[in-house]
Amino acid sequence: MSDQPAAIPHRYAGSIDAIIQSQGPLLRFFTESAWSRRDAADPSNADFVAGNPQEMVMPEFVESIRRWATPKDKDWYAYKFNEPYAQDAAAAGLRERRGIAFEPEDISLTDGGFAGLVLAIRTVTDPGDEVIFVSPPWFFYEAIILTALARPVRVRVKDTWDLDVDAISAAITARTRAIIVNSPNNPTGRVYPIETLSRLAESLIEASERNGRPVYLISDEAYSRILFDDGRFRSPTEFYPYSFLVYTYGKQLLTPGQRLGYVALPPQMPDKDSLRTALFLGQLAFGGHGVPNAVMQRALGDLDPLCIDVKGLQRRRDRMVDALRSFGYDVRTPEGTFYLLPKSPIEDDVAFTAQLALDQVFVLPGTVVEMPGYFRISLTGNDDMVERSLPVFEKIARG
Ligand SMILES: Cc1ncc(COP(=O)(O)O)c(C=O)c1O
Repeated sequence: MSDQPAAIPHRYAGSIDAIIQSQGPLLRFFTESAWSRRDAADPSNADFVAGNPQEMVMPEFVESIRRWATPKDKDWYAYKFNEPYAQDAAAAGLRERRGIAFEPEDISLTDGGFAGLVLAIRTVTDPGDEVIFVSPPWFFYEAIILTALARPVRVRVKDTWDLDVDAISAAITARTRAIIVNSPNNPTGRVYPIETLSRLAESLIEASERNGRPVYLISDEAYSRILFDDGRFRSPTEFYPYSFLVYTYGKQLLTPGQRLGYVALPPQMPDKDSLRTALFLGQLAFGGHGVPNAVMQRALGDLDPLCIDVKGLQRRRDRMVDALRSFGYDVRTPEGTFYLLPKSPIEDDVAFTAQLALDQVFVLPGTVVEMPGYFRISLTGNDDMVERSLPVFEKIARG
């Protein structure tokens, strides 16, 4: 038997090596935590880790997909691009809800928010350029910036968890091409007020003039429909023309596994024609024909008005916030999103989440989202899970 030649070690792209480095805490959680070893089918789990559904999907969602899966002509499953019926529906939804004249041709359809962020960032950055993101962040911003071979620049929020506009202004350099802002914010639940957004816009206008090129605002609006207390959403894109509005339907429908989203240009964006062309080629090239599939584009018109029960989510927020406070937890009331971000009763949030996991209560350690000493609860856990988890939270808090 001939000897096998010695294996030649794999060599990865520098960008993937950098991503592996940056995603250490997330990788460890997904591969080494008690949550990663759980039996996912065990009905005793109270799983608050991710913004994933813990109940059956809305029946209207399924009906729509079924309906549009049946072809009506030979082109039904031909290559799809930015199909006008889907662009019309997305723009109409934005116009109706926000009272702003979004145009259908300014909607670049994407298979979710991930792809929209990649598209926006890669369209305006070259290797070595800088992209600012706000910490604590959604856990994949840094990785997405790194795939563009750009340099992630982290700016911390204030103690109030509001944007620190002065710190953002100070972080902008001649190489800054974009800033990602996420309101309502994952993981803090903050919705940034209009005074802050106007100050941010002033700072970006000044910086763009200084740089002689735009510093783009990438507004991640994944949770714009998940707003509590009858709050009205004000988009950062209303205040600054050089903005990309990045949206995913994964939150409003609680269907993150059925990818659908878009990047919208606000009406006041200058020279939209050339930008539309750049984005279109980016959709094809960066994301490997990264547009939603045929059925999702057809279904978009049915899905845009549909939304999960946000009032129900708010009731769950109130139940959990009140109960956790009564057990002595320090927890702020989120204004939107799926998430609570309480302080861990012991300093080591990873050890705390491991303790909860012994009783099959699973939450995300704050360390994974740059909030060591905290933990994140997703309110997408169902009401039974909430009731089963509360005595466990109480037991650990009372030592
Ligand atoms: C703030 C934020 N942006 C973007 C995304 C990505 O959304 P999707 O998976 O629907 O693309 C998420 C998902 O958790 C998120 O929380």
